Amino acid sequence: MSFLDPLEMGLGTWAWGKGQVWGFGKDYGTEDLRKAFRTAIDNGVHLIDTAEVYGNGQSESFVGEFLKEKPGEKIYVATKFAPNPNRFSTSRLLKALKASLSRLGLKSVDLYQMHWWSPPRSIKAWMEPMAEAVKEGLAKEIGVSNYTLNQMRRAQDCLATYGVSLASNQMQYSLVRRKFEFNGLLEECKKTNVRFIAYSPLGMGMLSGKYSPQNPPSGPRRLFYFGQLGRVQKLGEKIKEMGAAHGKTVNQVALNWVLCKGALPIPGGKTAEQVKENAGAMGWRLTEGEVIKLDEASKGFKG
Ligand SMILES: NC(=O)c1ccc[n+]([C@@H]2O[C@H](COP(=O)([O-])OP(=O)(O)OC[C@H]3O[C@@H](n4cnc5c(N)ncnc54)[C@H](OP(=O)(O)O)[C@@H]3O)[C@@H](O)[C@H]2O)c1
Repeated sequence: MSFLDPLEMGLGTWAWGKGQVWGFGKDYGTEDLRKAFRTAIDNGVHLIDTAEVYGNGQSESFVGEFLKEKPGEKIYVATKFAPNPNRFSTSRLLKALKASLSRLGLKSVDLYQMHWWSPPRSIKAWMEPMAEAVKEGLAKEIGVSNYTLNQMRRAQDCLATYGVSLASNQMQYSLVRRKFEFNGLLEECKKTNVRFIAYSPLGMGMLSGKYSPQNPPSGPRRLFYFGQLGRVQKLGEKIKEMGAAHGKTVNQVALNWVLCKGALPIPGGKTAEQVKENAGAMGWRLTEGEVIKLDEASKGFKG
């Protein structure tokens, strides 16, 4: 039994801090993030997902600062190790984890995830210090991210030799990125009790309905969804109609579809308003027929 099992949703914090993609310091600032964090906890979102690379450590520092302002609340923290090629020695993992814990102000993290698979080190070489992190009490559970089916199986086998179970695999998954439904990864996660955590569950905000070919997002996000905004907009209209029947918004329906697929979405939020709206995706479900209709409407987004 993992602490992740009963959770419906988490809060993503990639945008919390300086970086190329999100515009921290221009469109939103520290006070917005503080309110977003509090709103998440007050609205039943108790998992915070961060990473050492987000804002170059700033995201973890914000989470650490905000955690202190909510004493006594059960808040689960997940962070990630970046296996950069220049990290030749696997002893760097425990060092990086200790640095993350220091920014977070914690003695141990609930979930420590390998952010991506990266040569030259093998999966086995990284899973050894991951298991060590559990033994030393620095991490309660271990996850991976951006691991294919075969890579995930290897990670599971390696961890098993140390008596540790793989708790999660975090992958990009939404109505506009459905690949893992079709290549067997989502199914395998369910079969082997690995929680499938869905990152970018709102298509990096494209599913919110506010972007269109005439009004694309600024920065690199424009490139990630280049040429697809017209199709996303049409899909958004269908989602909106469906949401009206439930008194729910487009974002809430898009996130609920992820929940209906058995995944754990971690939408990013920059403001209290966004976080509150997204929390409204919990506690109810689309009907089976509605899920089928959305599957049909989004079948062009298999990549
Ligand atoms: N493991 C990995 O490799 C990996 C990769 C990416 C992300 N992640 C994790 O997954 C989390 C979520 O993914 P993501 O942030 O890329 O994408 P996302 O959750 O699909 O989209 C988040 C963005 O959508 C917009 N948004 C969110 N809620 C909204 C609302 N209610 N109304 C209107 N707009 C709303 C906001 O941006 P705007 O307001 O600017 O539109 C927000 O920053 C990340 O924060 C991170 O924790 C992990």
